[in-house]
Amino acid sequence: MKNSSAWWIRIPVGFFLILGLMEFFIDSGDKPAILTYPMAQAFMVFVLMLMIAIEVILAAIENVMFHTLSEEAKARYLASKNKKWEWEWGKKTYKKLLGSKPIEAEGEIILDHNYDGIRELDNKLPPWWVYMFYATIIFGVVYMFRFHVFGGYDQDLEYEREVAAAQAEIEEYKKTAKDLIDANTVELLTDASDIKAGETIFTGNCAVCHKVDGGGSIGPNLTDDYWVLGGGIKNVFNTISEGGRAGKGMVAWKTNLKPSEMAQVASYVLSMHGSNPADAKAPEGEKWMDPNAPIQEVEVQQIDSTTIEVIMDDAETDAPLPPDAE
Ligand code: HEC
Repeated sequence: MKNSSAWWIRIPVGFFLILGLMEFFIDSGDKPAILTYPMAQAFMVFVLMLMIAIEVILAAIENVMFHTLSEEAKARYLASKNKKWEWEWGKKTYKKLLGSKPIEAEGEIILDHNYDGIRELDNKLPPWWVYMFYATIIFGVVYMFRFHVFGGYDQDLEYEREVAAAQAEIEEYKKTAKDLIDANTVELLTDASDIKAGETIFTGNCAVCHKVDGGGSIGPNLTDDYWVLGGGIKNVFNTISEGGRAGKGMVAWKTNLKPSEMAQVASYVLSMHGSNPADAKAPEGEKWMDPNAPIQEVEVQQIDSTTIEVIMDDAETDAPLPPDAE
């Protein structure tokens, strides 16, 4: 009987093989079947018992058979059993990868020089090392052509792409997290749906004091250029959120309205700008200039040789040069 492997290898290998097969075939969702189904645990215990039983029986049979052998056969059998079990293939490949000569053959590769008894073996480089070295050369050549000759992407481009991707993610996140805004980050909403929602909030909460058209009654006119507490989306949002000056009647709405709703109603208020409603209240506060508004482009006069002449003519007739300059 050829002793191909020991029981302490056969049992675990067989056990985990069956366990793997069972996990593969039983669909148990996220968790492994062995944790989900008590049946599976019982089955694996049974498998383990069975395997141990088989090993015990095989050993017993071997024992019985051994006693039926003749003395000479017994000796031969023991000799073959004592030969250490070796993993032939693994050993061979390991030796190959090392590429070193066995000690018996070292005479072939010893070099002639001899320094005070110290001699040198001309061993070959280990193949595993040599092949890795070749691989790095091939990698280097491919890399050079890919990135330096044909100009693949570089680190700058990679960085820009990642930043752009992150930016897109932030935009996406902002879309779902509308209530993260405050007076510093709020922006004027222009979507018709937002303005419509703002209008609903305004008629429901604000019209009592500012009138439906924003012309103002208890509260100031919201449609003109003049603001008591500052114009522009950020100031208006802040006023709605924090309220007006104490005792004036404009409460802080942040307790009743969500940030997104305050942004909508603030945008609606600003959308009424310049609507000039009838019976509007007189302006209060100061004329609001947006500090961030783009500077109005002044038309620049094109100057060419003819216009320059005209200017010079004018200078001659209207404003003669001072006498000392002549
Ligand atoms: C109870 C009456 C009342 C209600 C309701 C009210 N306001 Fe006012 N609102 C006022 C008064 C009064 C002021 C002036 C506050 C001040 O002078 O400090 C004001 C000021 C404002 C201002 C600043 C105007 C400026 O010239 O700077 C805005 C914007 C405004 N309200 C928007 C709203 C919005 C939007 C709502 C609804 C969510 C609302 N108000 C509800 C009374 C009201």
